Amino acid sequence: MEFDPSALPASHRYKLLVGAILPRPIAVVSTIDAAGRTNIAPFSFFNAASVTPMALAFSPITRADGTDKDTLRNALPVAEGGLGEFVVNLPGASWVRQLAAAAEGLPAGESEFELTGLTPADSRVIRPPRIAEAAVSYECRTIQVVRLAPGTPLSGNIVIGEVVHVWVRDGLADEAMHIDLEGLDTLGKLSGSGYCRPTDRFNLVRGRAALALPDPVSSGT
Ligand SMILES: Cc1cc2nc3c(=O)[nH]c(=O)nc-3n(C[C@H](O)[C@H](O)[C@H](O)COP(=O)(O)O)c2cc1C
Repeated sequence: MEFDPSALPASHRYKLLVGAILPRPIAVVSTIDAAGRTNIAPFSFFNAASVTPMALAFSPITRADGTDKDTLRNALPVAEGGLGEFVVNLPGASWVRQLAAAAEGLPAGESEFELTGLTPADSRVIRPPRIAEAAVSYECRTIQVVRLAPGTPLSGNIVIGEVVHVWVRDGLADEAMHIDLEGLDTLGKLSGSGYCRPTDRFNLVRGRAALALPDPVSSGT
């Protein structure tokens, strides 16, 4: 099967992305608006983007009516009307229901902190609060927002943020900054309403040395 994206409806383009790019990391993004009102929303169009500067990127897509999601409005650079700050909180399996609930389309100004019962905690260098339940939180300043098709329904708006402060739950990282995967208890996003946990794992060297080893999947090592 092969497909020309320009000949497909947006719903099919969406499914060809989210049904195959799996699992996707999840950013639970906390922001505030100009009046200081808090907002939380999950985003699985998300990943690490740069080490120097330390940066990450996520994409709140334009709503079906052509408007920006609240998170995007709040995170836009100051010159574009936002506060230019956001926190990416990593999800934990113990609060997956609250994470999913934070996707509720509340009117702007109504807080998902109140809806979900998640706990706001002060950030160190930016104004939006982090989520106390998160094992890892990245305080970010917006470097740039790349709008792929401004105002077009379901178009990507890639928010690139520089990480200006990192929170890791006490004891979760060792001195070399290795993070304990079990303690992180993280989640990935599958298609539809699916989620997964990284419980089926194996290690493999990188480069040509990998070819000389037994297949780690079929051999079960
Ligand atoms: C796990 C999960 C991942 C999501 N990923 C995205 C995403 O990458 N981009 C997006 O625009 N919406 C995504 N959504 C939907 C938004 O969270 C939802 O539209 C939310 O209401 C936006 O909130 P806001 O208007 O307060 O920013 C996701 C929802 C869930 C539950």
